[in-house]
Amino acid sequence: MTTAPEPSRRGDAVRVLVAFAGVHGSTRSIAEHIAGRLEERGRVRTDVLPVEAVSDPGAYDVFVVGSAVHGMAWLPEARTFVLRNAGLLARRDVWLFSVGMPAALRGPWKALAPQESDHVVGDLIERLSPRDHRLFSGVIAPEHLPTTGRMRFRAMGLRYGDYRDWPSVDAWAEEIGRAVRDRPPQPDGPPTGGPGPRSGP
Ligand SMILES: Cc1cc2nc3c(=O)[nH]c(=O)nc-3n(C[C@H](O)[C@H](O)[C@H](O)COP(=O)(O)O)c2cc1C
Repeated sequence: MTTAPEPSRRGDAVRVLVAFAGVHGSTRSIAEHIAGRLEERGRVRTDVLPVEAVSDPGAYDVFVVGSAVHGMAWLPEARTFVLRNAGLLARRDVWLFSVGMPAALRGPWKALAPQESDHVVGDLIERLSPRDHRLFSGVIAPEHLPTTGRMRFRAMGLRYGDYRDWPSVDAWAEEIGRAVRDRPPQPDGPPTGGPGPRSGP
């Protein structure tokens, strides 16, 4: 008697949405990097989407949501995505990340970084109880800032540059990957591996 073929590993994969909001590309690049690392070790299938392009959040088991930081806050579209889906996200494993410029801070300004990390997602952490939140540094260039922003930047003694710290991003993605692969089946999750609807390209 022939037996039915084993379901493919792909069919058993945990579905992870890496959703992001950014303006100049750093947040997207970090989102894509995280997704790449998550997929490398198998058992995980990722979609990387701008928050506005997510049409079926219910199709995902796990969420990694990130936003660029402007004025010590997440971009409005990222907050809207999270708040609109707060009920769902509260029942899923969620990781949050922010992309600002803590690595550009110098001297006494360096002490601001931990405060900023708490400030940008404080209320979201209360609502969602995410597994973790990280504040990464991105790219900051003069043409990104309005005149007043450039003046403030200079006054604080900051330097423009590409501050993305890929080893830190890798290490964080590894932590997420371990937690995702080790997670027990979720009673309230979508039918992982099933033919359910998917967002994304
Ligand atoms: C208008 C503006 C305001 C910003 N405000 C902050 C801020 O308050 N805190 C911070 O850490 N970074 C701030 N940044 C730096 C950006 O968050 C950083 O450059 C990040 O890499 C942007 O991500 P993106 O390339 O995905 O847009 C600001 C950048 C701009 C353009």
